[in-house]
Amino acid sequence: MVDSAAKNVEKVYDQWGKDYDEFMPWEEKFRNESNYYMQIFRQNNVKKVHDAGCGTGRHALYFAQAGYEVTGSDISSGMLQKAEERVKAAGYQINWVHSSFQELADKVDKRYDCLFSGGTALAHILDEEELLIALNSIREVLVPGGILITDNINGELKAKKGLSIGPLEVPEGPEGQDSDKLWLRVLNTNWPIINYNVVTMEKIDGKWGMVVKTFDLRGDIHVLLRKLLPKAGFEIISDEPNSDYGGTSSSYQLKHGEPRGVFVARRI
Ligand SMILES: C[S@@+](CC[C@H](N)C(=O)[O-])C[C@H]1O[C@@H](n2cnc3c(N)ncnc32)[C@H](O)[C@@H]1O
Repeated sequence: MVDSAAKNVEKVYDQWGKDYDEFMPWEEKFRNESNYYMQIFRQNNVKKVHDAGCGTGRHALYFAQAGYEVTGSDISSGMLQKAEERVKAAGYQINWVHSSFQELADKVDKRYDCLFSGGTALAHILDEEELLIALNSIREVLVPGGILITDNINGELKAKKGLSIGPLEVPEGPEGQDSDKLWLRVLNTNWPIINYNVVTMEKIDGKWGMVVKTFDLRGDIHVLLRKLLPKAGFEIISDEPNSDYGGTSSSYQLKHGEPRGVFVARRI
């Protein structure tokens, strides 16, 4: 894929891979979400899972630890590298594929019972036609009757307004409270696009510096998916515009008040 939005996404996440995990209370967030997703896996007799837009591989690792056969893919080699390191260190085996959603059908031979895509990854596709290409590609890598689970920001519910800044945060992890690093998010909405900026301030050798990572999201992704999933050959079996992950919603969700839409859809 060559469009400039995708190129920017790849570049931003390639750089972000090394410290991406400092930006959220991942352990709690992922434990809650992953338990919820695994419940859906059990209900749908899922054995083989593909985590697309897998980032640093947190969900993928949880799924592998729970005994699922897992493949992870991402457009960013920097994120995949981090994912690979994490999974190796934990002693698990996951196959990794460097691929966009749109190219998946060309890049993987296997067929999966479930394609999972968390962390608002699909919302990075800004163009409606590209999103349809991505969904068609996802359908191709599922077995007939296989399911897609996708979790994305729901801007319809919250981010339709203009500028939103903060709160100021310290990185997660053991070094968090003592670190010379602070960050905040700055969102500027030009509906339906949410311009998402992660502003990091870090003191290195006594001097404060600032780095801004910036990318765009489709704020209306949940509504778009509702329209496009049937066009791409999916039957929507669950549509949650403001998911609480089966009642396990983590403090991250409450703290940031960023509503998340979750779909479960079946390949017809
Ligand atoms: C916010 S991160 C979420 C990562 C992970 N799923 C999580 O829950 O932490 C979004 C991820 O989507 C990936 N991504 C964005 N656009 C993509 C595309 N068109 N195809 C595949 N991956 C994409 C990015 O590289 C990044 O790793």
